[in-house]
Amino acid sequence: MKLTVGVIGLGIGKHHIEGYRSNPNCTVIAIADTDKAKLDAVGDQYGIPNRFTSAEALIDSGLCQVISVATPNKFHKDLTNRALEKGAHVLCEKPMAMNAAEGQTMLETALKTERRLMINFSYRFTMPARALKARIDQGDLGQAYYGRSIWLRRRGMPGFGGWFGNKELAGGGPLIDLGVHRLDLALWFMGYPEVDYVTGTTYAPIATEIAQREHKTYSVEDLAAGFIRFKNGASLSMEASWAGNIKENELMETRILGSRGGLIHRNIGEGYEFEAEFFTEHLGYQWDEKYHAASSWAAGNPKPITAMSHFIDSIIAGTPHEADGKEGLLIMKILDALYQSAESGRPVIF
Ligand SMILES: NC(=O)c1ccc[n+]([C@@H]2O[C@H](COP(=O)([O-])OP(=O)(O)OC[C@H]3O[C@@H](n4cnc5c(N)ncnc54)[C@H](O)[C@@H]3O)[C@@H](O)[C@H]2O)c1
Repeated sequence: MKLTVGVIGLGIGKHHIEGYRSNPNCTVIAIADTDKAKLDAVGDQYGIPNRFTSAEALIDSGLCQVISVATPNKFHKDLTNRALEKGAHVLCEKPMAMNAAEGQTMLETALKTERRLMINFSYRFTMPARALKARIDQGDLGQAYYGRSIWLRRRGMPGFGGWFGNKELAGGGPLIDLGVHRLDLALWFMGYPEVDYVTGTTYAPIATEIAQREHKTYSVEDLAAGFIRFKNGASLSMEASWAGNIKENELMETRILGSRGGLIHRNIGEGYEFEAEFFTEHLGYQWDEKYHAASSWAAGNPKPITAMSHFIDSIIAGTPHEADGKEGLLIMKILDALYQSAESGRPVIF
Protein backbone atom coordinates (compact mmCIF):
# COMPACT_ATOMS: atom_id res chain seq x y z
CA MET A 1 0.00 0.00 0.00
CA LYS A 2 1.35 3.44 -0.99
CA LEU A 3 -0.28 6.31 0.88
CA THR A 4 -1.05 9.58 -0.89
CA VAL A 5 0.24 12.67 0.91
CA GLY A 6 -0.49 16.39 0.71
CA VAL A 7 1.61 19.14 2.30
CA ILE A 8 0.11 22.53 3.19
CA GLY A 9 2.52 25.44 3.76
CA LEU A 10 5.89 25.30 2.03
CA GLY A 11 8.31 26.86 4.50
CA ILE A 12 9.18 24.01 6.87
CA GLY A 13 6.71 22.08 4.70
CA LYS A 14 9.62 21.46 2.31
CA HIS A 15 11.22 19.39 5.07
CA HIS A 16 7.98 17.45 5.32
CA ILE A 17 8.21 16.65 1.61
CA GLU A 18 11.79 15.45 2.11
CA GLY A 19 10.73 13.45 5.17
CA TYR A 20 7.94 11.67 3.28
CA ARG A 21 10.26 11.03 0.34
CA SER A 22 12.50 8.99 2.66
CA ASN A 23 9.65 6.46 2.97
CA PRO A 24 8.90 4.39 -0.15
CA ASN A 25 5.40 3.59 1.12
CA CYS A 26 4.01 7.04 0.38
CA THR A 27 4.03 9.66 -2.37
CA VAL A 28 3.57 13.40 -1.99
CA ILE A 29 1.02 14.05 -4.70
CA ALA A 30 -0.30 17.48 -3.68
CA ILE A 31 0.93 20.73 -2.17
CA ALA A 32 -0.74 23.98 -1.17
CA ASP A 33 0.59 27.45 -0.46
CA THR A 34 -0.99 30.86 -0.83
CA ASP A 35 2.28 32.03 -2.41
CA LYS A 36 1.94 30.96 -6.06
CA ALA A 37 5.62 31.47 -6.92
CA LYS A 38 6.70 29.25 -4.02
CA LEU A 39 4.05 26.68 -4.95
CA ASP A 40 5.38 26.36 -8.47
CA ALA A 41 9.03 26.39 -7.46
CA VAL A 42 8.53 23.58 -4.92
CA GLY A 43 6.16 21.70 -7.23
CA ASP A 44 8.73 21.79 -10.02
CA GLN A 45 11.61 20.90 -7.72
CA TYR A 46 9.91 17.71 -6.52
CA GLY A 47 7.71 16.97 -9.53
CA ILE A 48 4.46 17.24 -7.58
CA PRO A 49 1.47 17.25 -9.94
CA ASN A 50 -1.38 18.73 -7.87
CA ARG A 51 -0.84 22.32 -6.73
CA PHE A 52 -3.33 24.48 -4.83
CA THR A 53 -3.19 28.14 -3.81
CA SER A 54 -5.94 27.32 -1.33
CA ALA A 55 -5.30 24.87 1.53
CA GLU A 56 -9.02 24.17 1.73
CA ALA A 57 -9.10 23.18 -1.94
CA LEU A 58 -6.29 20.65 -1.37
CA ILE A 59 -8.17 19.14 1.55
CA ASP A 60 -11.55 19.12 -0.21
CA SER A 61 -10.05 17.48 -3.33
CA GLY A 62 -9.99 14.23 -1.32
CA LEU A 63 -6.76 13.25 -3.08
CA CYS A 64 -4.73 12.79 0.10
CA GLN A 65 -4.88 10.07 2.75
CA VAL A 66 -2.27 11.91 4.85
CA ILE A 67 -1.96 15.69 5.16
CA SER A 68 0.78 17.79 6.73
CA VAL A 69 -0.32 21.15 8.09
CA ALA A 70 2.74 23.43 8.12
CA THR A 71 1.22 26.92 7.98
CA PRO A 72 1.51 29.75 10.49
CA ASN A 73 0.06 28.63 13.87
CA LYS A 74 -3.21 30.54 13.47
CA PHE A 75 -4.37 28.17 10.72
CA HIS A 76 -3.44 24.85 12.37
CA LYS A 77 -6.79 24.25 14.06
CA ASP A 78 -9.17 24.91 11.17
CA LEU A 79 -7.06 23.15 8.54
CA THR A 80 -6.40 20.14 10.77
CA ASN A 81 -10.07 19.78 11.70
CA ARG A 82 -11.12 20.11 8.07
CA ALA A 83 -8.59 17.49 6.94
CA LEU A 84 -9.62 15.06 9.69
CA GLU A 85 -13.29 15.52 8.81
CA LYS A 86 -12.42 14.80 5.18
CA GLY A 87 -10.93 11.46 6.30
CA ALA A 88 -7.20 12.25 6.20
CA HIS A 89 -4.64 11.49 8.90
CA VAL A 90 -2.89 14.72 9.91
CA LEU A 91 0.68 15.54 10.85
CA CYS A 92 0.42 19.07 12.23
CA GLU A 93 3.38 21.31 12.92
CA LYS A 94 4.19 22.47 16.42
CA PRO A 95 2.78 24.23 18.34
CA MET A 96 -0.39 22.17 17.87
CA ALA A 97 -2.48 25.36 17.94
CA MET A 98 -2.67 28.91 19.27
CA ASN A 99 -3.87 27.67 22.67
CA ALA A 100 -5.25 24.63 24.51
CA ALA A 101 -8.90 25.39 23.68
CA GLU A 102 -8.08 25.11 19.98
CA GLY A 103 -5.96 22.00 20.58
CA GLN A 104 -8.87 20.41 22.44
CA THR A 105 -11.15 20.68 19.38
CA MET A 106 -8.43 19.06 17.24
CA LEU A 107 -8.06 16.11 19.60
CA GLU A 108 -11.85 15.73 19.78
CA THR A 109 -12.14 15.79 15.98
CA ALA A 110 -9.43 13.15 15.65
CA LEU A 111 -11.22 10.92 18.17
CA LYS A 112 -14.61 11.48 16.55
CA THR A 113 -13.40 10.79 13.01
CA GLU A 114 -11.09 7.96 14.13
CA ARG A 115 -8.25 9.55 12.18
CA ARG A 116 -4.70 9.99 13.43
CA LEU A 117 -3.29 13.28 14.65
CA MET A 118 0.46 13.66 15.19
CA ILE A 119 2.33 16.82 16.20
CA ASN A 120 5.76 17.39 14.66
CA PHE A 121 7.95 17.33 17.76
CA SER A 122 10.89 16.79 15.46
CA TYR A 123 13.71 16.84 18.01
CA ARG A 124 12.56 13.46 19.33
CA PHE A 125 13.64 12.12 15.97
CA THR A 126 17.29 13.10 16.33
CA MET A 127 19.36 9.93 16.80
CA PRO A 128 20.98 11.05 20.09
CA ALA A 129 17.48 11.66 21.54
CA ARG A 130 16.29 8.25 20.40
CA ALA A 131 19.40 6.61 21.84
CA LEU A 132 18.75 8.29 25.20
CA LYS A 133 15.08 7.28 25.17
CA ALA A 134 16.04 3.67 24.48
CA ARG A 135 18.21 3.68 27.61
CA ILE A 136 15.47 5.32 29.65
CA ASP A 137 12.97 2.70 28.47
CA GLN A 138 15.19 -0.10 29.68
CA GLY A 139 15.45 1.50 33.12
CA ASP A 140 18.94 3.09 33.06
CA LEU A 141 17.65 6.47 34.28
CA GLY A 142 15.58 5.09 37.15
CA GLN A 143 13.01 7.55 38.47
CA ALA A 144 13.33 10.94 36.74
CA TYR A 145 12.97 13.63 39.41
CA TYR A 146 14.42 16.84 37.98
CA GLY A 147 14.89 18.32 34.54
CA ARG A 148 16.15 21.51 32.97
CA SER A 149 15.32 22.20 29.34
CA ILE A 150 16.30 25.33 27.45
CA TRP A 151 16.50 26.83 23.98
CA LEU A 152 18.08 30.24 24.12
CA ARG A 153 19.03 32.57 21.29
CA ARG A 154 21.06 35.70 21.79
CA ARG A 155 19.42 37.49 18.84
CA GLY A 156 17.34 35.34 16.53
CA MET A 157 13.72 35.02 15.65
CA PRO A 158 12.26 33.64 12.43
CA GLY A 159 11.48 36.53 10.06
CA PHE A 160 11.75 39.56 12.35
CA GLY A 161 8.67 41.73 11.76
CA GLY A 162 6.73 38.79 10.26
CA TRP A 163 3.99 36.49 11.62
CA PHE A 164 6.16 34.78 14.26
CA GLY A 165 6.31 37.96 16.36
CA ASN A 166 2.62 38.76 15.92
CA LYS A 167 0.50 37.38 18.79
CA GLU A 168 -2.62 37.27 16.58
CA LEU A 169 -0.93 34.86 14.13
CA ALA A 170 1.50 32.97 16.36
CA GLY A 171 -0.20 32.84 19.78
CA GLY A 172 3.09 33.63 21.55
CA GLY A 173 6.82 34.13 21.11
CA PRO A 174 9.88 31.96 21.74
CA LEU A 175 8.06 29.94 24.40
CA ILE A 176 5.47 28.64 21.94
CA ASP A 177 8.00 28.49 19.09
CA LEU A 178 11.21 27.08 20.62
CA GLY A 179 10.25 26.22 24.20
CA VAL A 180 7.56 23.88 22.88
CA HIS A 181 10.23 21.59 21.43
CA ARG A 182 12.40 21.45 24.54
CA LEU A 183 9.31 21.03 26.72
CA ASP A 184 8.16 18.04 24.67
CA LEU A 185 11.64 16.51 24.67
CA ALA A 186 11.95 16.78 28.46
CA LEU A 187 8.44 15.40 29.05
CA TRP A 188 9.08 12.56 26.62
CA PHE A 189 12.25 11.63 28.54
CA MET A 190 10.38 11.95 31.85
CA GLY A 191 7.44 9.83 30.68
CA TYR A 192 4.88 12.64 30.33
CA PRO A 193 4.01 12.80 34.07
CA GLU A 194 0.81 14.52 35.21
CA VAL A 195 1.21 18.23 35.94
CA ASP A 196 0.49 19.61 39.42
CA TYR A 197 1.22 23.32 38.96
CA VAL A 198 3.09 25.75 36.72
CA THR A 199 4.76 29.13 37.27
CA GLY A 200 6.06 31.27 34.44
CA THR A 201 7.57 34.65 33.68
CA THR A 202 7.95 36.44 30.36
CA TYR A 203 9.93 39.54 29.31
CA ALA A 204 10.38 41.51 26.10
CA PRO A 205 12.85 44.35 26.65
CA ILE A 206 15.19 43.72 23.73
CA ALA A 207 12.99 42.72 20.77
CA THR A 208 10.37 45.35 21.61
CA GLU A 209 12.95 48.10 21.51
CA ILE A 210 14.51 46.87 18.27
CA ALA A 211 11.04 46.55 16.69
CA GLN A 212 10.16 50.12 17.66
CA ARG A 213 13.42 51.39 16.22
CA GLU A 214 12.87 49.47 12.97
CA HIS A 215 9.10 50.13 12.77
CA LYS A 216 8.24 46.43 12.88
CA THR A 217 5.39 44.55 14.52
CA TYR A 218 6.33 42.76 17.74
CA SER A 219 3.69 41.76 20.27
CA VAL A 220 5.11 38.70 22.05
CA GLU A 221 7.76 37.94 24.70
CA ASP A 222 11.44 37.70 23.81
CA LEU A 223 12.29 35.48 26.80
CA ALA A 224 10.22 33.12 28.90
CA ALA A 225 11.12 31.01 31.90
CA GLY A 226 9.02 28.49 33.73
CA PHE A 227 8.86 25.90 36.44
CA ILE A 228 6.60 22.86 36.27
CA ARG A 229 5.88 20.65 39.24
CA PHE A 230 4.43 17.20 38.54
CA LYS A 231 2.02 15.16 40.64
CA ASN A 232 4.69 12.47 41.16
CA GLY A 233 6.91 15.10 42.85
CA ALA A 234 9.28 15.57 39.89
CA SER A 235 9.93 19.05 38.52
CA LEU A 236 11.20 20.74 35.38
CA SER A 237 12.62 24.17 34.80
CA MET A 238 12.67 25.67 31.33
CA GLU A 239 13.79 28.73 29.40
CA ALA A 240 13.29 29.97 25.84
CA SER A 241 14.44 33.15 24.13
CA TRP A 242 14.76 34.90 20.78
CA ALA A 243 16.74 37.68 22.42
CA GLY A 244 18.87 37.80 25.55
CA ASN A 245 22.28 39.11 26.48
CA ILE A 246 24.00 35.75 26.70
CA LYS A 247 27.24 34.43 25.22
CA GLU A 248 25.79 31.83 22.85
CA ASN A 249 23.95 32.59 19.62
CA GLU A 250 21.96 29.39 19.93
CA LEU A 251 21.91 27.06 22.92
CA MET A 252 19.68 24.01 23.19
CA GLU A 253 20.12 21.79 26.19
CA THR A 254 17.94 19.29 28.00
CA ARG A 255 19.15 17.62 31.19
CA ILE A 256 17.22 15.00 33.10
CA LEU A 257 18.34 13.71 36.49
CA GLY A 258 17.15 10.28 37.55
CA SER A 259 17.70 8.02 40.55
CA ARG A 260 19.99 5.67 38.57
CA GLY A 261 21.42 7.95 35.88
CA GLY A 262 21.34 11.35 34.31
CA LEU A 263 21.36 12.58 30.73
CA ILE A 264 22.03 15.54 28.58
CA HIS A 265 20.88 16.23 25.00
CA ARG A 266 22.32 19.39 23.49
CA ASN A 267 23.27 21.05 20.25
CA ILE A 268 26.88 21.03 19.09
CA GLY A 269 28.68 24.30 18.36
CA GLU A 270 25.50 26.42 18.45
CA GLY A 271 24.18 24.53 15.40
CA TYR A 272 21.56 21.93 14.55
CA GLU A 273 23.59 18.77 15.14
CA PHE A 274 23.14 17.10 18.52
CA GLU A 275 25.09 15.11 21.05
CA ALA A 276 24.02 13.05 24.02
CA GLU A 277 25.71 11.97 27.22
CA PHE A 278 24.64 9.63 29.96
CA PHE A 279 25.97 9.77 33.53
CA THR A 280 25.85 6.84 35.95
CA GLU A 281 27.45 5.29 38.97
CA HIS A 282 28.45 1.65 38.72
CA LEU A 283 30.11 -0.49 41.42
CA GLY A 284 30.92 2.71 43.28
CA TYR A 285 32.55 4.36 40.25
CA GLN A 286 31.09 7.21 38.25
CA TRP A 287 30.82 6.97 34.47
CA ASP A 288 30.34 9.45 31.66
CA GLU A 289 29.13 7.82 28.45
CA LYS A 290 28.84 9.63 25.15
CA TYR A 291 26.57 8.73 22.25
CA HIS A 292 28.71 7.81 19.26
CA ALA A 293 27.25 8.89 15.93
CA ALA A 294 28.79 6.16 13.75
CA SER A 295 26.31 4.68 11.31
CA SER A 296 25.28 1.16 12.09
CA TRP A 297 25.23 -1.50 9.38
CA ALA A 298 23.89 -4.38 11.41
CA ALA A 299 20.42 -5.51 10.35
CA GLY A 300 17.80 -4.60 12.91
CA ASN A 301 19.85 -1.84 14.51
CA PRO A 302 18.09 1.55 14.78
CA LYS A 303 18.34 3.69 11.67
CA PRO A 304 17.69 7.43 11.40
CA ILE A 305 14.00 8.15 10.90
CA THR A 306 11.97 11.28 10.26
CA ALA A 307 8.68 12.14 11.96
CA MET A 308 6.98 11.87 8.56
CA SER A 309 8.36 8.43 7.85
CA HIS A 310 7.42 7.27 11.36
CA PHE A 311 3.85 8.53 10.82
CA ILE A 312 3.55 6.62 7.51
CA ASP A 313 5.04 3.42 8.98
CA SER A 314 2.63 3.59 11.95
CA ILE A 315 -0.42 4.09 9.74
CA ILE A 316 0.51 1.17 7.51
CA ALA A 317 1.39 -1.14 10.40
CA GLY A 318 -1.64 -0.07 12.44
CA THR A 319 0.64 0.63 15.42
CA PRO A 320 0.50 3.71 17.69
CA HIS A 321 2.48 6.73 16.51
CA GLU A 322 4.50 9.05 18.74
CA ALA A 323 3.67 12.66 19.65
CA ASP A 324 -0.06 12.19 19.42
CA GLY A 325 -2.81 14.76 19.91
CA LYS A 326 -3.06 14.00 23.64
CA GLU A 327 0.59 14.90 24.21
CA GLY A 328 0.26 17.92 21.94
CA LEU A 329 -2.70 19.11 23.99
CA LEU A 330 -0.92 18.66 27.34
CA ILE A 331 1.93 20.78 25.97
CA MET A 332 -0.60 23.46 24.92
CA LYS A 333 -2.13 23.42 28.43
CA ILE A 334 1.31 23.91 29.98
CA LEU A 335 2.14 26.75 27.55
CA ASP A 336 -1.20 28.44 28.32
CA ALA A 337 -0.52 28.08 32.04
CA LEU A 338 3.00 29.52 31.71
CA TYR A 339 1.63 32.58 29.88
CA GLN A 340 -1.25 32.92 32.33
CA SER A 341 1.10 32.71 35.31
CA ALA A 342 3.44 35.26 33.73
CA GLU A 343 0.53 37.66 33.40
CA SER A 344 -1.02 37.09 36.82
CA GLY A 345 2.24 36.70 38.73
CA ARG A 346 0.74 33.61 40.38
CA PRO A 347 1.14 29.84 39.90
CA VAL A 348 -1.49 28.02 37.87
CA ILE A 349 -2.78 24.86 39.55
CA PHE A 350 -3.82 22.03 37.18
N1 LIG B 1 9.26 21.32 13.66
C1 LIG B 1 10.12 22.30 13.45
O1 LIG B 1 11.30 22.19 13.75
C2 LIG B 1 9.63 23.59 12.86
C3 LIG B 1 10.55 24.47 12.25
C4 LIG B 1 10.05 25.65 11.70
C5 LIG B 1 8.70 25.94 11.75
N2 LIG B 1 7.84 25.07 12.36
C6 LIG B 1 6.39 25.36 12.41
O2 LIG B 1 5.88 25.22 11.09
C7 LIG B 1 4.86 26.18 10.85
C8 LIG B 1 5.26 27.05 9.66
O3 LIG B 1 6.45 27.72 9.96
P1 LIG B 1 7.47 28.15 8.81
O4 LIG B 1 8.75 28.44 9.47
O5 LIG B 1 7.43 27.17 7.71
O6 LIG B 1 6.78 29.52 8.36
P2 LIG B 1 7.00 30.26 6.97
O7 LIG B 1 6.37 31.59 7.15
O8 LIG B 1 8.41 30.13 6.53
O9 LIG B 1 6.15 29.40 5.93
C9 LIG B 1 4.75 29.28 6.01
C10 LIG B 1 4.21 29.03 4.61
O10 LIG B 1 2.79 28.86 4.70
C11 LIG B 1 2.17 29.62 3.67
N3 LIG B 1 0.84 29.94 4.13
C12 LIG B 1 0.46 30.88 5.03
N4 LIG B 1 -0.86 30.82 5.24
C13 LIG B 1 -1.33 29.81 4.46
C14 LIG B 1 -2.63 29.26 4.26
N5 LIG B 1 -3.70 29.71 4.91
N6 LIG B 1 -2.75 28.22 3.38
C15 LIG B 1 -1.68 27.76 2.71
N7 LIG B 1 -0.42 28.24 2.90
C16 LIG B 1 -0.26 29.24 3.76
C17 LIG B 1 3.06 30.83 3.46
O11 LIG B 1 2.91 31.37 2.17
C18 LIG B 1 4.45 30.20 3.64
O12 LIG B 1 4.99 29.71 2.44
C19 LIG B 1 4.71 26.96 12.15
O13 LIG B 1 3.69 26.39 12.91
C20 LIG B 1 6.05 26.77 12.84
O14 LIG B 1 5.95 26.87 14.25
C21 LIG B 1 8.29 23.91 12.89
